[in-house]
Amino acid sequence: MDSAVYSGECRMRRYDNRGKARVSMLIQDVFSTYKDDLLAVEKCINDNVISEIKLIPEIAHHLIDSGGKRFRPLLLLICSRLCGYQGESRFPMATVMEYIHTATLLHDDVIDQADIRRGKDSANKIFGNSVSILVGDFLCFKAFMLMSAIGNNDIFGLVSKMGNIMSEGEVFQLTKCGDINMTREDYLGIIEKKTAVLISAACATGAILGSASPDKVDALSNFGKNAGMAFQITDDILDYTAEGREFGKSIGKDLEEGKITLPFIFALKQSTEEEKNRMKEIITSKNSSGEAALEVRKFIEKYEGLDLSRYRASGYIKEAKHQLDVFDDGAEKNHLMTVADYILSRKV
Ligand code: IPE
Ligand code: IPE
Ligand code: MG
Ligand code: MG
Repeated sequence: MDSAVYSGECRMRRYDNRGKARVSMLIQDVFSTYKDDLLAVEKCINDNVISEIKLIPEIAHHLIDSGGKRFRPLLLLICSRLCGYQGESRFPMATVMEYIHTATLLHDDVIDQADIRRGKDSANKIFGNSVSILVGDFLCFKAFMLMSAIGNNDIFGLVSKMGNIMSEGEVFQLTKCGDINMTREDYLGIIEKKTAVLISAACATGAILGSASPDKVDALSNFGKNAGMAFQITDDILDYTAEGREFGKSIGKDLEEGKITLPFIFALKQSTEEEKNRMKEIITSKNSSGEAALEVRKFIEKYEGLDLSRYRASGYIKEAKHQLDVFDDGAEKNHLMTVADYILSRKV
């Protein structure tokens, strides 16, 4: 894993948002705490990318070996430890989450015509669209093979449903591409489906592995969903604000693709008819390079679209933390709090 990924400023407050004291922690400390578990996951990820068709591991490794935060595996590991589970199945289950995530990245970069992923040329750029999609499919089905070996029907049902919802989110997003009348509700529906359900499932799976009570499974599922909403909103803010090199993806890509995200939606909602028409012109011409991109950026700033989005993301994080009330204070709960705070300050 790329340690530079965790170099952002993520120091935690000493008090959570309801005033309870908690130990100050950095996201790097959380990753370090789970270092051995994450290494076991990494081994499982690598051991299962095997095929006699050599192009498959070549493409899968291209992406897997180029870093990535392993954010979903980390959450699964924390949640299973929080629910008292330290068994072997947590490693293949964390692998399932990372494989499905990797598959969505392979597919997403084809759809978004992305050139860069995790700071390197994207798989679609190097190997082409068709094979990138097929290797994404390979990883999805490999995930299902790992899950069937574990043989937990509740998890199987949860992850299957999740995959369906994620596909719906991506298709819904496509139908809204370039639509200047897209509402905040549409946007929130899309990000819940395409991003939050996977993060939610990673958390819920940890709880199910630990045979947690239904209220605790629900609490961690809701923690993940709210954290996932904030995670995607942050990603969409970073698409406007990040340092390209640090972020590992091209900046301004959403606009280029006609993808209308929360900062833009907030600004459009307050704009004049004239401004709205101008934005429509830019979005539909897909001419978002140079001056046009700057114009959109200024428009968003005028209406404080980025700050409003940050505020919205922080609301989701507050709700995510609130979901943890059913758990007693302790190390793992503190780790989840730290991860939640990290989402708002992340730079990658
Ligand atoms: C990127 O996810 C896709 C989104 C849901 C925004 P990550 O930011 O977790 O990507 P990696 O795995 O760290 O590269
Ligand atoms: C992320 O959407 C959702 C996925 C399921 C991959 P984005 O298009 O914003 O993701 P990035 O920015 O390319 O990682
Ligand atoms: Mg994309
Ligand atoms: Mg993005």
